[in-house]
Amino acid sequence: MDAFYGLQVRMKFSAVVSMRSDPVDPALFVRNRAKLVEKLKPNTLVVIHANDITPTNADGTLQFRQNNDLYYLTGVDQEETVLVLFPDAPMEADREILFVRETSEHIAIWEGEKLTKEQATKVSGIKSVRWVDSFEDVFHTLAPMVDVLSLHTNEHPRANTIVETRNRRFIRACQERYPLHRYERVALSLQEIRMLKDEEEIKFLQKAIDITEAGFRRVLKFLKPGVGEWEIEAEYLHEFVRNKSRGFSYSPIIGSGKNACALHYLENDKICEDGQMVLMDVGAEYGNWNADMTRTVPVNGKFTPRQKDVYEAVLRVMRAANGLLRPGLGPIEYQKKVLEIMEKELIGLGLIDAEEAKKQDATKPLVKKYFMHGTSHHLGLDVHDVSPPNSDFTVGQVFTIEPGIYIREEGLGVRIENNVVIGETENIDLFVNFPTTVEEIEAAMAE
Ligand code: GLY
Ligand code: MN
Ligand code: MN
Repeated sequence: MDAFYGLQVRMKFSAVVSMRSDPVDPALFVRNRAKLVEKLKPNTLVVIHANDITPTNADGTLQFRQNNDLYYLTGVDQEETVLVLFPDAPMEADREILFVRETSEHIAIWEGEKLTKEQATKVSGIKSVRWVDSFEDVFHTLAPMVDVLSLHTNEHPRANTIVETRNRRFIRACQERYPLHRYERVALSLQEIRMLKDEEEIKFLQKAIDITEAGFRRVLKFLKPGVGEWEIEAEYLHEFVRNKSRGFSYSPIIGSGKNACALHYLENDKICEDGQMVLMDVGAEYGNWNADMTRTVPVNGKFTPRQKDVYEAVLRVMRAANGLLRPGLGPIEYQKKVLEIMEKELIGLGLIDAEEAKKQDATKPLVKKYFMHGTSHHLGLDVHDVSPPNSDFTVGQVFTIEPGIYIREEGLGVRIENNVVIGETENIDLFVNFPTTVEEIEAAMAE
């Protein structure tokens, strides 16, 4: 019985040697480490731990999800991994050290294969690989030699969690043992580096988006009055996993009718009725990179005149926003300009009165009744990807553009979300192949 339980539960979180996706070029991780090293103060030691495996109940766990900063620097998607960087180390072998779980026949039988030292080198480009059991000894040999310990915290402004991560536990232990060292937040440098995407990353993002497109096209053929929102979710998941995604980038939102107006609707448990639209905010993961799509389509395949007017207003705002999301502007100014464009559209739709708009309180813009969220966020290894707060737009960044109009009194909510790369002369729309206009969607649904 014990053995049976062990098998059932452990299989759920066993990390894998070869990921389901195509391998990532290890040169990416070499480049990423070089960029970080350039930003370090002299005589700094960086330590980044893997995420813990998250417990659920009894002996259950969630599927393992790597610390994205560690993944970005190593490509290692395995628990109990540690990266140490000490660029000024006297011994070359100490300049980059990767610690991984020691493999054994026992682990291979119960959890599946783990990386050998050779495989860890191949994935990461790091020559010095040791078993994680030796980490404490090695760390306490190196720490007295350095001036600065640069450790890992989650600095995302919207991260709101009481769970103490492995990295946080390590900081506590470190500060107790080395109270007079200088401490730095490695996350701040990583935010600056990660917000500019490498070509290899864009390749994986495009693949995640292509898989999402395959899911969307499948759903356009499947959708008809009477299907459950959960059945749509199942169609996406089927298409994603068969294309070597590990699943959804984030909990999918499939909201028909008025459910589209609940921004974080996750129940996906209602029936899609004739005459309604259904909003689908869904993306595929691929190799740990994420797509973030929203599409809103008529359940019966044909837009009503009102649905078409609202949809085309949102589409115009998305296209105008794409023209604004360019170097030289920052997110605060951008959002303000998008709201001005949205206000004109809402006046056109009869939702805002033009005269009232002239007299409105600038601190409570009328537009927020119908468009109450931000228009864009960085996208990458995190869906709401990291960046220094309010940094100006720059060539090489990847953003979502996702305006919406939510009219609760009409049971109608429309959001359209594409993902773009900020290019030298114009943005590159990674969704260029998707059916997007009213005519394209109606044609794809009629196939
Ligand atoms: N799906 C999350 C977002 O659009 O931001
Ligand atoms: Mn989304
Ligand atoms: Mn988004």
